[in-house]
Amino acid sequence: MDKSAAPPQRSTRTRSLRQAFRQYDQRLLPREDAELTHVGPGTPCGEYLRRFWQPVAMSSEVFERPLALRILGEDLVVFRRGDGQVGLLDRHCSHRGTSLEFGRVEANGLRCCYHGWLYDVDGTILETPGEDDAGSMRGRVFHGAYPLHEFRGLIFAYMGPPEARPPFPHLDVYDLPGDRLVPYAIASPCNWLQVHENAVDPVHGVFLHTIIAGTQFSSQFAQVPLMEFHETPIGMFSVSTRRVDDRVWIRINDAILPNLMRYAYSWEEAERVSYFGRGSGTKWTVPVDDTHCRALGWRHFGTLSDPRGLGKETEVGLESVDFMGQTGGRPYHERQQAPGDYDAQVSQRPIALHAREHLVSSDGGVILLRRQLRAAIHQLSEGGTPPILERLSQGIVSTYTGDTIVRRPIRPGVDDKHTMRAVTADVLNVITDPANGEGELRRDTVARRLAMLFPA
Ligand code: FES
Ligand SMILES: [Fe+2]
Repeated sequence: MDKSAAPPQRSTRTRSLRQAFRQYDQRLLPREDAELTHVGPGTPCGEYLRRFWQPVAMSSEVFERPLALRILGEDLVVFRRGDGQVGLLDRHCSHRGTSLEFGRVEANGLRCCYHGWLYDVDGTILETPGEDDAGSMRGRVFHGAYPLHEFRGLIFAYMGPPEARPPFPHLDVYDLPGDRLVPYAIASPCNWLQVHENAVDPVHGVFLHTIIAGTQFSSQFAQVPLMEFHETPIGMFSVSTRRVDDRVWIRINDAILPNLMRYAYSWEEAERVSYFGRGSGTKWTVPVDDTHCRALGWRHFGTLSDPRGLGKETEVGLESVDFMGQTGGRPYHERQQAPGDYDAQVSQRPIALHAREHLVSSDGGVILLRRQLRAAIHQLSEGGTPPILERLSQGIVSTYTGDTIVRRPIRPGVDDKHTMRAVTADVLNVITDPANGEGELRRDTVARRLAMLFPA
């Protein structure tokens, strides 16, 4: 009998039918998790994100013309003065609101196209040319501006309270020997958090990137790993452990609060022993507004970050990176046939509805990440300072991302999961030990200690 044609009746059968065809009961959607997803001025999450330096553009996007930007729900414009200095201003002119994206870049500032007011990079009004001195607003009106820091091809802004501006953080992976940082930027029409959560979701590597659409990165991703999620002084990381022949492969991805991720080597096949590789990329997911975001960061190129030499530097830049499925630019049938991160994340709705999810044990990273964010947002709302800010301001920041592959054959009569967990614990003990120092010294020390513990 066709179940859908069954007459309505009050019985056990009705209940089971309603379990089977439930959409009517859940057709009304719950509200989104505003505390973690709303980012406009004055929102708790928006104020939290504003306490950190955020990349807002690639240097290569800002030359002879101003660039209109929307960041954290604010309409802004970024421009480069004649001497190369960059400025980030409120997009609307202080005179009568014309967008400064139509302004003219001059040697010492940005001039509004409408009546010629001239702005310096810090918002100082330099000229109001239609006025004599008596009627001038110079020295009495100050245009909105945010401080910028240009670094390795990206322009970072600090959009928080001026008195709380932290030093610009320096990650350990900025100075790897022989490593090149190549900037890129990719926009997505969805909330920032669902894109960022990718960093701590190892199971999607198995299905989305391997089993569902064929191998997009490494064929070894097809194996469901043993997973662990750990807190760190700067956020958290996910750990995936897999057996490959007589080797155990431990892969770590950082989620650094609030919206920075580092991802391990994309094409790792674990064919040879390796100690503390340092990963393929560093990426911030910056909210444009509640329903749009832009990933900005670097792909790393060098022997430590791309040991198999499979990266394609020429494919990295504006709306482009050398991984498949990261943009909406592919034909629809192709995206259906072989979906990528972009398709999976954007289709979670403009703002993923946490109240409609059913999180399971392998979502431990997503759960931990949200818990950390919520705690930090509460702390700031209650007048505290996020402790991560302090850590990010001190010296060289240690990150944990990377692949370690050690030789440890299967032992007859021993549950291999037990072996893999024990190896993981030993490797994590070394990588997370603060006694390793920082920067290049730490990298050498960690690699040497791992090699002593697990000879090749
Ligand atoms: S609106 Fe910009 S100078 Fe008048
Ligand atoms: Fe992915």
